[in-house]
Amino acid sequence: MDGRDLVRSIKAVGSAGAGQRLRTVRAAWRRRRADAAGLPPRGAERARVPGPVRSAEPGPGGGLLRFDRTVLRVTVAVNGAVFWGWDGAEAEPSYALAGRCPEPDPRAVLEPDKDGGWRVVAERVTVVVSRHGEVEVLTPGGVGLRRDLPPRWWEPVGGGPARWMQRSEVAADARFFGLGGRASGPRLRNGTYRLWNTDPGGSFGPDDDPLYITMPVQMVVADAATHLVFHDTSWDGAVTLREGEEGAGSGHDRAGTSELRMEGGPLRCWVMVGTPARVLLTWASLTGAPALPPAWALGHHHARWGLGGEQDVRRIVSGYLDHDLPLDAVHLGIDHYDGHRVFTVDHDRFPKLPQLAEELRRDGVRLVSIVDPAVEAAVGNEVHDSGVALGAFVRDASGRPVEGVARSGEAVFPDFTDARVRAWWGALYEERLAQGFAGFWHDMNEPTSFAAFGEPTLPRSARHDLDGRGGDHREAHNVYALCMARAAYEGLRELSPRERPFVFSRSGWAGLQRYGGTWSGDVATGWPGLRASLSLVLGLGLCGVPYSGPDAGGFDGSPSPELYLRWLQLGAHLPLFRTYAGARAGRGEPWEFGPKVLEHARGALVERRRLLPYFMTLAHLARRTGAPYVRPVWWGAPEDRGLRDCEDAFLLGDCLLVAPVLGPGVDRRAVQLPRGLWYDTVTEQVYEGPGQVLVEAPLSRVPVLARAGAVVPVRGQDGGLELEVWAPARGRTGGGLVVPDAGDGWDEPEIERYVARWEGGRVVVEREGEGEGGVSEPPHPVRIRGLSGTRGQM
Ligand code: NOJ
Repeated sequence: MDGRDLVRSIKAVGSAGAGQRLRTVRAAWRRRRADAAGLPPRGAERARVPGPVRSAEPGPGGGLLRFDRTVLRVTVAVNGAVFWGWDGAEAEPSYALAGRCPEPDPRAVLEPDKDGGWRVVAERVTVVVSRHGEVEVLTPGGVGLRRDLPPRWWEPVGGGPARWMQRSEVAADARFFGLGGRASGPRLRNGTYRLWNTDPGGSFGPDDDPLYITMPVQMVVADAATHLVFHDTSWDGAVTLREGEEGAGSGHDRAGTSELRMEGGPLRCWVMVGTPARVLLTWASLTGAPALPPAWALGHHHARWGLGGEQDVRRIVSGYLDHDLPLDAVHLGIDHYDGHRVFTVDHDRFPKLPQLAEELRRDGVRLVSIVDPAVEAAVGNEVHDSGVALGAFVRDASGRPVEGVARSGEAVFPDFTDARVRAWWGALYEERLAQGFAGFWHDMNEPTSFAAFGEPTLPRSARHDLDGRGGDHREAHNVYALCMARAAYEGLRELSPRERPFVFSRSGWAGLQRYGGTWSGDVATGWPGLRASLSLVLGLGLCGVPYSGPDAGGFDGSPSPELYLRWLQLGAHLPLFRTYAGARAGRGEPWEFGPKVLEHARGALVERRRLLPYFMTLAHLARRTGAPYVRPVWWGAPEDRGLRDCEDAFLLGDCLLVAPVLGPGVDRRAVQLPRGLWYDTVTEQVYEGPGQVLVEAPLSRVPVLARAGAVVPVRGQDGGLELEVWAPARGRTGGGLVVPDAGDGWDEPEIERYVARWEGGRVVVEREGEGEGGVSEPPHPVRIRGLSGTRGQM
């Protein structure tokens, strides 16, 4: 066990009672014994490389290249993504892909290249394979984006999964993003990033890595183009990144490098090229459209670990009402379970949960339930017994259910990689719906099993169904939570077909967005934690998971009033907006921090509610285009290197730029602006980008700037939809999209398109595509802003 594992174990079990501590010791030994007996020892290995190319077989979208010692399949799909797989690797089966693999693009052909190599030329990308098996990805204009050296792999002589290594080079100016949720980003600095979903134990800060969601997904942003590369294997691995260096015109640039080492799995990858928006559109078409949340899930949520009972929930809700603070959901954590047992209720403390839920719903507040995957291993526990009858739990190599430790004590873990188990688990949400819950918060699903030493998860030798293929935890671990989310999502679609499922999950993998979102987990209370929580949201968005957000206030300890407020102000501009109070902290309620914080917190909460139609529009656009709500400031201008390195601000959709305050004692801050005119949404001062400007950031708010010409759908005083239109630059037009949403259900709303333009001395806003001349009056009240045109300080 390395030092980090030890620290993690101590943090995770440190607060437990003596009985639980003993269980974690026994579980750790069991785990060790299971792996000693159930995992074949790594004996002698045979190292392999492709060798020289011998022949080619063109086929739809590309073809097959035969090397001396292996084969390579290259295929361009109709969505523009390129797939290649070494050594017989095909694109399927895959946990990341949504349904079937896209068809090959019949226009892409394999043709001979210079020096005995081959190439596939497609509309948006050219792939060149050298005689020795280097694979280069180029823009249609011939600029190199990525060069993969011939891979190497090591096969155990006695059979079994091969380890492999892939070294790649990218442009000297390139920056790396993604790899799932990383606390130290969003720009991924030089270093090694592990690909193994991990509960850091206790709370985490920017230096903790890996965390709950890792994904072999890199977004690489360079002058020539952006590309996303996905190595489709769920095995444990690590990526070592090194940014390149430019030789200041000397011609001696040093390429950036990425070195991926995987413990197993097919040696295959997908690459997509273009603008960031194009790349994420392709990624979403490959891995699935982000699930659409119900409108209430874009409001404000409050969670507390250590809820007293029904009275405590009522106290929280009336606290919000009495203080005139918007609240849309209360999350019940594990303390509402009976003895921490999933799918149960502690009837002493929650005697009439369905009634409570109904009453709260009348006040516009939904209840969200935590759901842990671990099932208490006790005969008489209904979930356990029905799972045993089905053979639902993960087994060891000798066929016995693997016992781990959860808060409920000794526990077994459903094998969500088995379709029968997913169906059984999905049906269990019926009990939750009957209790009145409207949403589901999946926790501890890395999966976490407390252990006194070693990794806090299941033994690597544990057997999984892997959808009929069979395998062990080394392959199933990273997709465990993804499959759990699928079980819930599909179960809820059946149980409550008219409502949009609302599921968010602590752990996950590529494709999680199909079923829901995530949150940042147990981020440490402190300024570094605040910064880390923004990094996670941005990074996950670039990996295709657009709905996430941190626990405002942090997981442990009590934030200072200033930190609480700044976190709340950031959270108010992120998709999942949840305040949280940890078990050993205060209550995290806005009125706890004094009248000044209360007043400013109200400002943030009210503003979030006002922006709800905009968030809903962004949710629809994410579903249709894969574009995250929260985007790095370089989103529309990745070639702007100044923007590429900006990590302390973000774009919220196309219209707004949010510059949160991430440190103490700040009352103004520098903001790196993309090209164009931007209005401070409070002072209406106007700034011109590109460049850095200084804006006011008083305690009462974080700076939010609106792009000139933006049409922002907001909620008016009467609750109806209004258009807030920011005057375009003189001589320019503006516009935007609005998706009016019914709040829930599956009706496809029509997208409304607006244009804003100057006519004489006034700004006119029209809806496109309707009425005479193809334009009509907007069906919503319009408010023009930014007319004063006062220049801000540059
Ligand atoms: C860990 C989760 O990350 C946290 O949000 C939750 O409150 C605790 N588990 C207890 O359920």
